[in-house]
Amino acid sequence: MNLLSAADLSKPEIIEILDLAHEMSDVNEREIKKLPTLRGKTVVNLFFEDSTRTRISFELAAKRLSADVINFVAKGSSVSKGESLKDTAQTLEAMGADAIVLRHGSSGSAHRLAHSGWVKSAVINAGDGSHEHPTQALLDAMTIRESLVGEPIGSDLAGKKILIVGDVSHSRVARSNLILLNELGATVATCGPATLVPRALEPSGGIFHSLDRALDEFAPDAVLMLRIQSERMEASFFPTEREYSRVWGMNSERLSRLSGSAIILHPGPMNRGLEIDADSADNIKSRILDQVQNGVAVRMAVLFRLLASEKGI
Ligand code: CP
Repeated sequence: MNLLSAADLSKPEIIEILDLAHEMSDVNEREIKKLPTLRGKTVVNLFFEDSTRTRISFELAAKRLSADVINFVAKGSSVSKGESLKDTAQTLEAMGADAIVLRHGSSGSAHRLAHSGWVKSAVINAGDGSHEHPTQALLDAMTIRESLVGEPIGSDLAGKKILIVGDVSHSRVARSNLILLNELGATVATCGPATLVPRALEPSGGIFHSLDRALDEFAPDAVLMLRIQSERMEASFFPTEREYSRVWGMNSERLSRLSGSAIILHPGPMNRGLEIDADSADNIKSRILDQVQNGVAVRMAVLFRLLASEKGI
């Protein structure tokens, strides 16, 4: 059993994971934030790319379920001596891994690790290049559901309008969200410069190239601002940062045009002043720290489903 793509999950499975994450978030509120569920299991965080939120929340999630955790970071490891993904993963599995949480710069790397026969462990995709980041989409869906749906347990996102803004082309977060939010019945639109919003993704709510127009015509319930991924850009995709911020950035004026209940999200890390200004990031409509908090609960639910539940994923 693996979690490689948001497309691995049916609508009932997504709702079950979100419901379980809701229960797990209660555990995270307790004085003793610990369940014995994964005692004796070992989770390996195998990170070839930098991460703050994903790596630490997987570590915390595994520890809160009483699993042992090994954190592997490529920098400072034998990867610098040329060791491959296959040999690194097999080495860590030989030390007793039951699950491997993989972040890697190459799209398809999690799929390769899971389906090459290299390892027997469950593989969880924690971000592969610009391809997918399924647990980020789950935590985003949880945050939107808990904010916008009165009775979240058992609910989908039918009738909710979600606008994804910015660097869609390079975003694994956008790709996983488009799949998962669509499966949950939401209407999803994308917005950004034509150079950064691929037409091939065909979101149900359409494509906008002006954020002002998207806010007026689409009237979103939630706006997911994406990070400009300069590290994945080999060319210039917009004139200047100033111009990007002026046309596609979230700011106080745009925030004031959202409906009273509408929320804004950002997967982090933020480029404050580029895709989102400080007033918006810290505004009462911002759910950015709820996303971080829900990340722990969602990852507890995913680890539980993969390692302790009959259902699996
Ligand atoms: N959202 C996200 O994946 O953040 P990190 O890169 O810090 O893990």
